[in-house]
Amino acid sequence: MPVITEVADLKRIYRRRVPRMFYDYAESGSWSEQTFRENTSDFSRIRLRQRIAVDLANRSVATRLIGEDVAMPAVLAPVGLLGMQCADGEIKAARAAERAGVPFCLSTMSICSIEDLAANTDKPFWFQVYTLKDNDFMSRLLARARAVGCTAIVITVDLQVLGQRHKDIKNGLSAPPKLTLASIANMMTKVRWGLGMLGTKRRSFGNIVGHAEGVTDPTSLSSWTAEAFDPSLNWDRVKELMDMWGGKVILKGILDEEDAIRAAELGADAIVVSNHGGRQLDGALSSIRMLEPIAKAVGDSTEVWLDGGVRSGQDVLKAVALGAKGAMIGRSFVYGLGAMGEAGVTAVLDIIRNELDISMALCGRREIADVDRDILLVPEGFSGGLA
Ligand code: GLV
Repeated sequence: MPVITEVADLKRIYRRRVPRMFYDYAESGSWSEQTFRENTSDFSRIRLRQRIAVDLANRSVATRLIGEDVAMPAVLAPVGLLGMQCADGEIKAARAAERAGVPFCLSTMSICSIEDLAANTDKPFWFQVYTLKDNDFMSRLLARARAVGCTAIVITVDLQVLGQRHKDIKNGLSAPPKLTLASIANMMTKVRWGLGMLGTKRRSFGNIVGHAEGVTDPTSLSSWTAEAFDPSLNWDRVKELMDMWGGKVILKGILDEEDAIRAAELGADAIVVSNHGGRQLDGALSSIRMLEPIAKAVGDSTEVWLDGGVRSGQDVLKAVALGAKGAMIGRSFVYGLGAMGEAGVTAVLDIIRNELDISMALCGRREIADVDRDILLVPEGFSGGLA
């Protein structure tokens, strides 16, 4: 077993252990994948300022997000199909998050259902919803989340229509996976994954199958999104869903100052600057470039978080310095999950927390509240622009 010291180590193992179809699902963006790539590469254009002779004893990266105590300014992002990356993936990731003291957000498109996850975890988690046409299904989903004690919902506002991801179409992505010669041949080389899958009953979309009517093929992400998602979504509908929930709401998928101001006016507890991991509008600016203008536009009216491209604690630090209260971690934890299950997610969270702590210290800061733009060197024209 190689010594694991960085998230990239887990990604290499993940790639070897998980069937191509599911690796590609996570590790891709829409169309040319430019936005997907820039979400990560733009982070490296920002530099940190080293400071010395600052008392670095008694440091802490703990903070609060929407009123909840968290061990670091991070959340496990809602990611679909976790239970296909690894048997019972949602349960394993949520348990690792619980132990690490960061919130876990279950995706509507998860394999494990809301009730099943609640029965297998100790702490409340968050639940993510899309804006769907079927109002009854939506209200049942929210009632189910309420019944198990979810403390917040994340409404995804950037997926009324699905951006095309070439690899998913070519691979015939589905859950459970369609058995073709190519997929069988590939799965046969993933022994550990296959044994895990044989040992679990959780192999289809647990929140949807048997709960949503009028869905012709609930095993396929693209057919479900095409049939069920509401292309006529508007701000009134967003407000309706927020009221239907009645508790804390995070609006995820905002990449524009005007939209951010509108979301804050609606009373969102937090907004997430996100381009859906580069999976929706290819050619949009990276999340880190849009963070600062959005944080400035909304001021203190709501919490602003960043999602997209976070692969290290330094990325979290840069996001916080540019105005984010917190960062969502998506692909990074999927690498850990696919590589080593719960232990892999724990490793990713440990790595990111340590990188955040040490980098913050080397910038001469002892606490998250002290992290400000002064610790950064940002190229002129970078934020909100193309430079
Ligand atoms: C679902 O939200 C996806 O991006 O696949």
